[in-house]
Amino acid sequence: MSTPNEGAAGKKHINLKIWRQESPDHEGRFEEFKLPYVKGANVISCLMEIQKNPVTADGKKTTPVVWDSNCLEEVCGSCPMNINGRVRMACSSLVDKLEDPITLEPLSKFPLVRDLAVDRQRMFLALKQVKAWIRIDGTYNLGPGPKQPQGNHAQMYTLSCCMTCGCCLEACPQVQPDNNFIGAAAISQVRLFNMHPTGAFTADERLAGLMQDGGIQDCGKAQNCVEVCPKEIPLTTSISAMNREVTMKVVRDLFFEDVAGKGVGGPG
Ligand code: SF4
Ligand code: SF4
Ligand code: FES
Repeated sequence: MSTPNEGAAGKKHINLKIWRQESPDHEGRFEEFKLPYVKGANVISCLMEIQKNPVTADGKKTTPVVWDSNCLEEVCGSCPMNINGRVRMACSSLVDKLEDPITLEPLSKFPLVRDLAVDRQRMFLALKQVKAWIRIDGTYNLGPGPKQPQGNHAQMYTLSCCMTCGCCLEACPQVQPDNNFIGAAAISQVRLFNMHPTGAFTADERLAGLMQDGGIQDCGKAQNCVEVCPKEIPLTTSISAMNREVTMKVVRDLFFEDVAGKGVGGPG
């Protein structure tokens, strides 16, 4: 039995407890696996080992574990899971740094597909809601865009590292499977695209997206999101900045409504 925080380093075996569930309609259960220790192994390399020979620790043949991954270098965002009770990227989670046995469970805020694989569509719908892109295509030549100022490159680069993994949504108490809060990632992407000199032309549309149902007003400012982001994106700074922008938009909209209502500046 390991002492708390003792990783698998120096041991003969890596022990894993993995959540198995054929579909959302099936009962779930844990299965235990024992692998020979490999220095520098990460959670995905362990899952790949099990896939080659899916036999449990007590010698029973089982089905290969299902999970999502792609880049294996913490860029694509596809491999988040709950590892020892904390959301992390499986590809960058080294077994030497994890308490043994290592428990793997799927994200709980997203619909389960099977075993450790979930459907993260909710995040992509949130990006659509806030129009997290810059319009540069058209049927006519748009001409040269405004120049990108040097000053905020570093800040924009940090924000652009978001890989839509969903760790921030998993940790957020306001995100629940039965609500539609867009979460910190989409809010931070509005900040990124509104900082861009071309994106700034359509900043108001993104702010309007933030004000829709499930928008920034649902953030409870618990700050769990910023604690778990693998890319260390300053999410709470983004949320505060966008809260300010949204408030200014509300005031602007009220003022122009008022001015339009009174006919100020109109003919006659
Ligand atoms: S903000 Fe961080 S935690 Fe959230 S989706 Fe982007 S990279 Fe993942
Ligand atoms: S600040 Fe708290 S409530 Fe708001 S998105 Fe982050 S974790 Fe969720
Ligand atoms: S496999 Fe791409 S981030 Fe982990």
